[in-house]
Amino acid sequence: MRYVARVASEPEHQHLFDSSDLGEVVVDAATLQARVVELGAAITRDYAGRAPLLIGVLKGAAMFMADLTRSIALPLEVDYMAVSSYGNATRTSGVVRIVKDLDIDLTGRDVILVEDIVDSGLTLSYLRKTLAARGANSLEVCALLVREGLQKTDEELHYVGFRIPPKFVIGYGLDFAERYRNLPYVCVFEGEG
Ligand code: IMP
Ligand code: MG
Repeated sequence: MRYVARVASEPEHQHLFDSSDLGEVVVDAATLQARVVELGAAITRDYAGRAPLLIGVLKGAAMFMADLTRSIALPLEVDYMAVSSYGNATRTSGVVRIVKDLDIDLTGRDVILVEDIVDSGLTLSYLRKTLAARGANSLEVCALLVREGLQKTDEELHYVGFRIPPKFVIGYGLDFAERYRNLPYVCVFEGEG
């Protein structure tokens, strides 16, 4: 089943972030929250009897992780990694660097890698390769957003929140130059990239 984002405007939030950078809403707050609950329920079912380790990719996946983990009814554990791939630009550099590594040993663990958005897929393919070499029992990916059509690598994405059109988006953890992560919805960035 495919989940395509519903377009809605959220004027009640828009005035809080008085900025011409904010474009069309791609996923509104209520739709986001409902889908995160569905993803959590799916993970709860799929990992019944196990204690998965959820790894959030900072900083973009922070909001998603906070909501997703609270929708999973399992004795899970949480860790975070930070990678840098974008700088302040809206285009990928193709270079991925681990800025903060994991604290928890992956040996024998059922790992779920939690990503904010898969664009070219370069970040994900690098993380998959790196984590696969660390002795996990299983490794799946849960991505809130997947930008349609631009993946350069053929990564298998087990859990996907929404497939979105090829525009740069901000909000719910996603930034432009570190701003707008605190928007409660995802919208198109209309500013100068
Ligand atoms: P990829 O390596 O091209 O797949 O890029 C993945 C990373 O780039 C994501 O984890 C985000 O941090 C960042 N990114 C990609 N697209 C967007 C966007 O539309 N808005 C904000 N950040 C983005
Ligand atoms: Mg990211």
